[in-house]
Amino acid sequence: MRAVIQDRYGTAEVIGVDDVPRPVPADDEVLIEVRAASLNGSDRENLAGSPFYARLNGLRRPRNPVPGSDVAGVVAAAGRSVTEYAEGDEVFGELAGYRGGLAEYVATPPRLLARKPPSLSFAEAAAIPQAGCIAYRATRGVRPGDRVLVNGAGGAGGSLVVALAKHLGAAVTAVDRADKADHLRGAGADDVVDFASEDWADHRDRYDRIVDLVAHRSPYRVHRALRAGGSYLMVGGRTRMLLATAAAGWSAGGSGKRVKVLVVPQSRADLEAVAALVVDGAVAPVLDRAYSLEQAPAAFARLAAEDHLGKIVVHVP
Ligand SMILES: NC(=O)c1ccc[n+]([C@@H]2O[C@H](COP(=O)([O-])OP(=O)(O)OC[C@H]3O[C@@H](n4cnc5c(N)ncnc54)[C@H](OP(=O)(O)O)[C@@H]3O)[C@@H](O)[C@H]2O)c1
Repeated sequence: MRAVIQDRYGTAEVIGVDDVPRPVPADDEVLIEVRAASLNGSDRENLAGSPFYARLNGLRRPRNPVPGSDVAGVVAAAGRSVTEYAEGDEVFGELAGYRGGLAEYVATPPRLLARKPPSLSFAEAAAIPQAGCIAYRATRGVRPGDRVLVNGAGGAGGSLVVALAKHLGAAVTAVDRADKADHLRGAGADDVVDFASEDWADHRDRYDRIVDLVAHRSPYRVHRALRAGGSYLMVGGRTRMLLATAAAGWSAGGSGKRVKVLVVPQSRADLEAVAALVVDGAVAPVLDRAYSLEQAPAAFARLAAEDHLGKIVVHVP
C-alpha cells in the first residue's frame, strides 16, 4: 500500500511517500481503508519531535514511521473478537499515539472510532476527531454570558473551541496573528487580539474560561486574567509550562480560580457528541486546503510553515 513515511524528526523535507506492507489487524483490531485524514498541531510537533512530549513515540526517531492521527474511512476487515464494527462500516476517529493514519490502510482498536454520520463527507469527518474532542472538553461547563478567551485560536483546535464556546452563548475573545482576524470572526469570535501587539495576560480579572493551545506564560501570570471562579485550561504549549501548570493546578485551591492542564481523552462518546453538533449545524470544522496522499510533503510544508487556517485535509484514493 502507499503510505506517508517519516523515518526521522525534522522539517517537512523528511516527509516522503512510499510502498509499505499493508497492516494486518490483530484479533481485537479493525483494518480501516482510509479515505481522508486531517492534520493537527500535534502532527507538526510529531514531525519536529518537539516539544519533548512529541518523542513519547520514539526518542531518536518515530517508532511508527507513518504519521497521521485523524482519519475517516471504511472498515475493510475486523479481527475475530471485534463486535462493534463489520466490513463496510464507515468510521472516523483519532489513532493511538497520533500515528499511522496517512496511509491507504491502518489497523486500530475499535474503541478509538465512532460511526461516521452519513451526512458528513469523509473529509469533514476526518477534520473532527482531535480538534473536536479538544473543543468539546475545553468548553464543558461554559454558560451563556461567560467570557471565554482562546489563545492560539486560528489553528486546528482553536477554531473549533471558538465556535463551540460561541454556540454555548459565551462572549469569545480569540487570540492569534493579526492576519487571521477575519477567519476568527468567521468562526464566531466577538473580539480578536493580535498576540504580537497585545498581551491578553494583562487583562486583569476578565475571563471565566481561558483555553490555551500554545501556552508559554507562567500559571501565575495567566491566573490574574481570570475572574473569580474562572478556570484556565492548558491544552498545548511548552513542556516547561505543562509541568508548571500541572503543579499549579494542584495548589490553586483557595482563590476560586483554577489553573490546570486539560488532558483530552480519546473517547467514542465525545466523538459522537461533536459529530452530532456538526450534523446539527451548531459548529463546523473549518477546512483549509486539501491534498492527495502523494502530495503529503506539500501538506506538511504548509502545516510546518503555519500558514493554514483550520484543518489541512489529505484525501486518500
Ligand atoms: N491536552 C491534550 O489532551 C491534547 C490533545 C491533543 C493535542 N493537544 C495539543 O494541542 C495543541 C494545539 O493544537 P492545534 O492543532 O490547535 O495547533 P495549531 O493548528 O498549530 O494551532 C496553533 C495556533 O496558535 C497560533 N499561535 C502561535 N503562536 C502563538 C502565540 N504566541 N499566541 C497566540 N497564538 C499563537 C498559531 O499561529 P501560527 O500558525 O501563525 O503560528 C496557530 O494558529 C498542540 O500543542 C497539541 O499537542 C493537546
